[in-house]
Order: sequence, then C-alpha cells, then structure tokens
Amino acid sequence: MRQVILSALGGVFLAGGAFAETAGDRAAGKVLAGQCRTCHGLDGMARIPIAPHIGGEPADYIRHQLTAFRDGTREHEMMSIVARNLSDQQILDLAAWYSGNKVTVDLAADPAAAPEACVACHGTDGLAQRPDAPNLAGETNIYIDTQLKAFRSGRRVHEVMTPIAQDMTDEDIRAVADWYAAVKISIEQVD
Ligand code: HEC
Ligand code: HEC
Repeated sequence: MRQVILSALGGVFLAGGAFAETAGDRAAGKVLAGQCRTCHGLDGMARIPIAPHIGGEPADYIRHQLTAFRDGTREHEMMSIVARNLSDQQILDLAAWYSGNKVTVDLAADPAAAPEACVACHGTDGLAQRPDAPNLAGETNIYIDTQLKAFRSGRRVHEVMTPIAQDMTDEDIRAVADWYAAVKISIEQVD
C-alpha cells in the first residue's frame, strides 16, 4: 500500500492550496441546518449511524461534498435529494455553520497505533490535517467502511482516496474503520 500512497502524497502536496477560503454566513447556515438536524444534529454530531459527524469539519471539505451531491459527482439516496436545490451561497452558509462548531477528541485510541498510511491527512487522532480532508474520528465503522468501499469500486471518486482504497483488502478496510470509530469525540455548538 505504501508506494501508492507516497505517490498520491507527492501529487497532492504539489497541488496544495487549491481550495479557496469559504465566506459563508453562519447565522443563515444555522437556519438552513434545520433541514439537516434529524440526521446530523444542529451541532453536527450524527443522529443516525449511516450519517457522518460534520461539526467542526473543514469548511472547504463540507462545501466540496455538498456541491458534489448537488451536481451528482457523489451520490446518495438521501443527500442527493437534500442537496439538489441548494444554491452556492446556501452551501457556503451551511459549511460556515457546521465547520464553526467545535470538535474535541475526548479519548483517542493509542496514537502510536494509528494507521500509518492515513495519519498525514487524517491525523493520529482522526482530525483532518488539511482543509480538503474530512475528520474520521468517531465516525461509525459502517460509515468509514462504506466510503472506502465506494472509493474502491469507483462509486465515489477522488484522486487521492481512489488509489489508496483500491490497494486495500476488506480486512484492511475493516481494521482502519474500527480504529477510527473507536476514537471518542464531542461536538460543541458555537452560536
Ligand atoms: C435523511 C438524513 C439526512 C439529512 C436530512 C441530511 N443528511 Fe447529510 N448525510 C446523510 C447521510 C446518510 C450521509 C452519508 C452519505 C454517504 O454514505 O455517502 C450524509 C453525508 C453528508 C455530508 C458528507 C460528509 C462527509 O464526511 O463526507 C455532508 C457534508 C452532509 N451530509 C451535509 C448535510 C447538510 C448540510 C444537510 C442539510 C442541508 C444534510 N446533510 C441533511 C444523511 C442526511
Ligand atoms: C494524502 C492525503 C490522504 C491520505 C494519505 C489518506 N486520505 Fe482519506 N481522504 C483524503 C481526502 C482529501 C479526502 C476527501 C475526498 C473527497 O473529497 O471525496 C479523504 C476522504 C476519506 C474518507 C471519506 C470520509 C468521509 O467523511 O466521507 C475516508 C473514509 C478516508 N479518507 C479514509 C482514509 C484512510 C483509512 C486512509 C489510510 C489508509 C486515508 N484516508 C489516507 C486524504 C487522504
């Protein structure tokens, strides 16, 4: 796995900084988040196991995913419908709202045992190390497993994650999913 990841790293770090800062309105985003709360909570702590925690996630990442669901480059039966009618401004506002909440790692799994191939971008505690990467800390193993298999099969496509996932067996996926899922987080709503 290592070789693929190192070449992916090289490519991405060269392209670093491609994601612009978002300029959303948090207050407007909080109102819009009323549509999201049954699944993601108003704070961004997921209420259903198949949905990810999004509170405190990088704004650029949230914006990019909502745009992908809206434009059909990432598909999901629930999120594609939710995102279908969002304007660019609403997406910026939602990204500002959720990213502005504060995620704290309460109990990290042993950082020394963190999956070596992932820590450069997803951290030894599962918090994103770069604005275009998501937090993995405390996501359910079902969610992480599903996403890695989606990258592997091509259902979800990303220049970095696709080759990484294609090099993983079901057992590799299960192990990293369990490791990140074991991290305990809390999310504080910042008004
Ligand atoms: C009916 C439940 C539901 C609602 C309502 C909902 N979501 Fe989701 N959301 C999901 C699920 C399930 C996923 C995981 C999709 C997948 O597996 O690809 C998801 C994924 C996401 C992601 C991707 C996060 C990541 O880590 O990749 C973002 C961002 C997101 N939702 C934002 C929102 C916002 C903002 C709203 C409100 C405008 C919203 N969602 C409403 C269920 C929901
Ligand atoms: C070079 C940086 C990098 C490395 C190394 C890396 N990732 Fe990622 N990862 C990303 C980026 C960037 C995304 C966002 C992809 C997108 O926009 O769809 C991502 C997305 C993900 C997602 C989707 C999460 C979500 O919320 O939807 C999972 C799961 C994931 N990575 C797991 C891993 C695992 C496990 C490893 C190690 C085997 C790993 N990644 C290594 C950069 C990286």
